[in-house]
Amino acid sequence: MTKATNITWHATTITKEDRRLKKGHGSCVLWFTGLSGSGKSTIANAVSSELFRQGITEYVLDGDNIRHGLNKDLGFSDHDRTENIRRIGEVAKLFVDSGALVTTAFISPFRSDRAQVRELFQDGEFIEVFIDCPLEECERRDPKQLYVKARRGEIKDFTGINSPYEAPERPEITVRSDQLTVEESVKQIFGYLQDKNII
Ligand code: ADX
Repeated sequence: MTKATNITWHATTITKEDRRLKKGHGSCVLWFTGLSGSGKSTIANAVSSELFRQGITEYVLDGDNIRHGLNKDLGFSDHDRTENIRRIGEVAKLFVDSGALVTTAFISPFRSDRAQVRELFQDGEFIEVFIDCPLEECERRDPKQLYVKARRGEIKDFTGINSPYEAPERPEITVRSDQLTVEESVKQIFGYLQDKNII
């Protein structure tokens, strides 16, 4: 629902297609989703670094970072997570319009929220990347020592422990991050981007 009235959409003079032509590659969002500790940020950053190395315009939007700024007013209730993902979807759309390959690393636990974001994009622009790692493995890694806190009851609504994670049903890419190295995961994602002629 739009609150403001008397607003008009202005088409920009330079279009997304103009920017893609100039850059010589497509633009899209690689929307990573998965449990905390599954490897979203690590793999998103590794993909971004390789894109950068190849001269491709890229950017990473990362959950923990965005929650320090744009979304610092949001917590981890279902409502706040939905608003978190809605805002990031809109930001990602701006990046895609600017001609970039943007990777997003948010748990984004709810299917309906991810489906809403997909709706913002044209066909082929929204690439859902499921970073599939069993909860036991995420908990074993526990890089931020958050699972141990959640198990002690010190964090409420922690995804996988006392807040749900809804795995994607038909993601464009599934990365088994418990079975692949980071390099192998990057290779898999690049294979997809090349197949689709995005890069
Ligand atoms: S999302 O669910 O709204 O998509 P987001 O990806 O932005 O979550 O933030 C998740 C990160 O916040 C986790 O990687 C973890 O470091 C931290 N965090 C803190 N509290 C929680 C919590 N209750 N549930 C999940 N992650 C949490």
